[in-house]
Parts: sequence; C-alpha cells; structure tokens
Amino acid sequence: MTDNFRKICKVSDLPNRRGRKFTIAEDTDIAVFKVNGRVYAVSNVCPHNHSEVMYDGYVDENLFLACPIHGWQFHLESGTVPPECKGLSAKLETYEVKIENDEVWVEVKVKKKKWFR
Ligand code: FES
Repeated sequence: MTDNFRKICKVSDLPNRRGRKFTIAEDTDIAVFKVNGRVYAVSNVCPHNHSEVMYDGYVDENLFLACPIHGWQFHLESGTVPPECKGLSAKLETYEVKIENDEVWVEVKVKKKKWFR
C-alpha cells in the first residue's frame, strides 16, 4: 500500500447505506459509505455552509448523498451536484478508496499550507 493511504476500518465494519465519520489527518474528516458492496469516501464538510455533517446524510439509489441540513446533493463518486442543478458550482471533495483483505484504505491528500504575511 502506498504511503498516502491510511487504513480506516474493515469493510465489514461499515453499515449498508449509512455513513461513518473518520479523521484521516489533523484537519481532515471524511464521511465513508458502503452502498451495494462498494465503498465511497467524501469530505465530511458540506460545501454549502461548511457544516461537518455529511456522514449523517441520505444516499439515494443514484448514489447522490443529500446533506442532512438543507438537502443539497452530491454524487458519491464525482462529488458533483445533480444534472438539474447546472447553475450550482458547489462540489463535494472525494477521496480515492482501496480495499485490501477486507480493509478500507483512504487517500490522504497533502494540503498546501497557506502563508500569510
Ligand atoms: S449545510 Fe449542507 S446543504 Fe446547507
């Protein structure tokens, strides 16, 4: 396994279609979902008003995850909004997932530090 992936749990630890929250880095919480046997990882932070609630969202049959606060929807694979919301530029950050021996590994992205002068 490459260095930029972190083991978070076993596939069998994930409930079907219900989210779980994990901290994968000091400032990075993700929401992880298992749907029809596949595992998806997205940011736990809703792009609408930065609420840390996406793990508690509802996943529909088309893999759109609805934020539990105002219902904005984002696709679990791409992070994009549904096609009928073309004018909305919001996007939910997604993370690569790898499964090895029933273990779920999630990509840890290196974030650039912001320097202020
Ligand atoms: S906070 Fe998520 S849709 Fe408003």
